Amino acid sequence: MRHLVSMNDLSKNEILTILDQAESFANGEKWSFTDKVFAANLFFEPSTRTKTSFEMAERKLGFEIIPFETSTSSLLKGETLYDTVKTLESIGVDVAVIRHTQDKYYEDLIGNVNLKIVNGGDGCGQHPTQSLLDLFTIKQEFGSFEGLKVAIIGDLQHSRVAKSNKDALTALGAEVIFSGPREWFLGENEESQNYYEIDEVIETADVVMLLRIQHERHVTKSFMTKEQYHLQYGLTVERAKRMKNNSIIMHPAPVNRNVEIADELVECEKSRIFKQMQNGVFTRMAVLRTLIES
Ligand code: CP
Repeated sequence: MRHLVSMNDLSKNEILTILDQAESFANGEKWSFTDKVFAANLFFEPSTRTKTSFEMAERKLGFEIIPFETSTSSLLKGETLYDTVKTLESIGVDVAVIRHTQDKYYEDLIGNVNLKIVNGGDGCGQHPTQSLLDLFTIKQEFGSFEGLKVAIIGDLQHSRVAKSNKDALTALGAEVIFSGPREWFLGENEESQNYYEIDEVIETADVVMLLRIQHERHVTKSFMTKEQYHLQYGLTVERAKRMKNNSIIMHPAPVNRNVEIADELVECEKSRIFKQMQNGVFTRMAVLRTLIES
């Protein structure tokens, strides 16, 4: 694996191998590369989980982290992303984790730079390591993906998590269904064909995967209030009571409490939201190891 920019880069076997490696790290396996590895984390969009989780993964693997802040870099003098990454490559950085507002920002980089690129999220495009940590969390819970029903609910159009997860889950044998405001669907596609009202799926889904409303990517003002969203599309306390035994609640976070999910459900017994964050470190360790060893 030369880079990881999209879940479409990975075969089913490659996904399963990364999940197995993540499990080994979760079980305490130690690994460090014989040579020093230098990593830089370039975040052009806000992040709490992905940035700190990559830093934790890098430190656990013994990488040297080269501090990089977009707010104090020469990007402010007009330097391009390409020249910025080429500069990091020139000074000896081996791995760059990049989050950027632009969809497919990595297309200018792949094939033109020699360091390894990990996509920490591109616009409304992909968020492959979030997908892998979600898959790891589901596998940890259910053992496999075959026959599972996963309901992805919310702002599908603007969610890179939904796009990264839907094909991977389907390839691994899960049934993926969608719910949420039709205004935020991508059009006449599989989401529309596999669409259900939340009340139709809540009793049969094994995984209820909620998505954050991505206000920062909306070009028009919201067509409903937070309260209306919660009642019509959100996981309310009443809906959670109707979920099947052994089903779980997931959300990539940050969570809009009392919008996508009721405040009291965020840490309820069925919630794996903070487990997902914990698993993010092991999954990112697995991705970084795979990249360095390739
Ligand atoms: N889930 C996720 O990507 O969170 P951050 O935006 O905080 O990194």
